[in-house]
Amino acid sequence: MLGNFRYSNPTKLYFGKDSLDNLKGELSAYGANILLVYGGGSIKKNGLYEDILRILSDCGKNVAEVSGVMPNPTVEKLYEGCKAAKEHQTDLILAVGGGSVCDYAKAVSVSAYCEEDPWEKYYLRMEDVDNRIIPVGCILTMVGTGSEMNGGAVITNHESKLKIGHVFGDNVFPKFSVLNPVYTFTLPKYQMTAGFYDIMSHILEQYFSGTDDNTSDYIAEGLLKSLIHSTRIAVKDPENYEARSNIMWIATWALNTLIAQGKSTDWMVHMIGQAVGAYTDATHGMTLSAVSMAYYRYICPYGLDKFRRFAVNVWEVNPEGKTAEAVAEEGLIRMESYMRDLGLVMNLSELGVTQEMLPGISEATFFMNGGYKALTREEVLKILQESI
Ligand code: NZQ
Ligand code: ZN
Repeated sequence: MLGNFRYSNPTKLYFGKDSLDNLKGELSAYGANILLVYGGGSIKKNGLYEDILRILSDCGKNVAEVSGVMPNPTVEKLYEGCKAAKEHQTDLILAVGGGSVCDYAKAVSVSAYCEEDPWEKYYLRMEDVDNRIIPVGCILTMVGTGSEMNGGAVITNHESKLKIGHVFGDNVFPKFSVLNPVYTFTLPKYQMTAGFYDIMSHILEQYFSGTDDNTSDYIAEGLLKSLIHSTRIAVKDPENYEARSNIMWIATWALNTLIAQGKSTDWMVHMIGQAVGAYTDATHGMTLSAVSMAYYRYICPYGLDKFRRFAVNVWEVNPEGKTAEAVAEEGLIRMESYMRDLGLVMNLSELGVTQEMLPGISEATFFMNGGYKALTREEVLKILQESI
């Protein structure tokens, strides 16, 4: 394990079919004013909204709502939430939804009492929080981002065509999250599989880096194997509780900071995907799947040993009598075929990206240098051209 690190994760998780039963107990730790935050209405269709309102009412809570949190929440929506949170003198923000709603709740929690423009402070200047933070609790309905147990809060600014994630410290992590796999059964297939690939991408972003023998990589391989196994089942049988519950648990561990410990991390697929998202507002996981194969084929020669190991340990490629390059490529072929089987978006055109947009998307890409190859802007453009 490289370097020195401190590891803590303050989010309490309640997992399983009966996990919502614990909400009452959690609510007793907070004051009366709850800001209920949710998306475009899926929770009203599946009955979760009514269940939660009943619990809040039984607990004597005074509830205000911010609804209509869109996928890829915008900065304008953030300002609306800040106003509502302050006016309601919110004691707890209760987020019910997917990554967008959970991210949004965290963004509001640090921004409501921020005296400057939160977009400029947290997203453009990447400063830490130095004001009051409103606690957040999550009830998760879509699996993928890991937002239920991390400090990530991604906000999109359509005017400046930027989609930026701030990873806040553990003082901003949700205080608790309720994870009931059954809630994810009503997800449309497109959202479900996008979430599956988001999980895979989170693991790979932390796996493809470093040359040391590192326990985090072995954990990542285990998570990947379980993910591939369960997603293959879930895509054919979406109400398979065993598969969906495994996937929900993998998603949380894929991005709750555990497997990033003691190593550098890559994150360039996410940086390129976020720039694509800023231009198209496309579903997050699909922006990642569309650029992944071109990206990994491009960096493979720079991290050949790891790509060979990935092929053998994750995709079960037999390495006997083959060069490292051949083994690595066989692994990538298996990965691509798995992605096609899931029905993921495999090129940018399908997301509405045009040739003319590519220079702008490469300009909007942020650079991270923890992977096997520190890319130049020209290389990002090349990867985008390969992906269209
Ligand atoms: O708005 P509603 O009506 O609820 O519909 C949502 C939304 O349209 C729907 N949905 C969610 N749960 C459902 C459901 N529909 C039926 N039944 C259910 N049970 O799914 C759609 C997508 O939801 P969204 O929350 O946008 O998806 P996801 O969880 O993928 O979140 C995406 C956001 O998270 C950010 C992304 O950039 C994007 O903004 N990320 C956050 C990260 C973090 N916190 O660490 C890391 C990720 O890499 C990612 O960047
Ligand atoms: Zn992601």
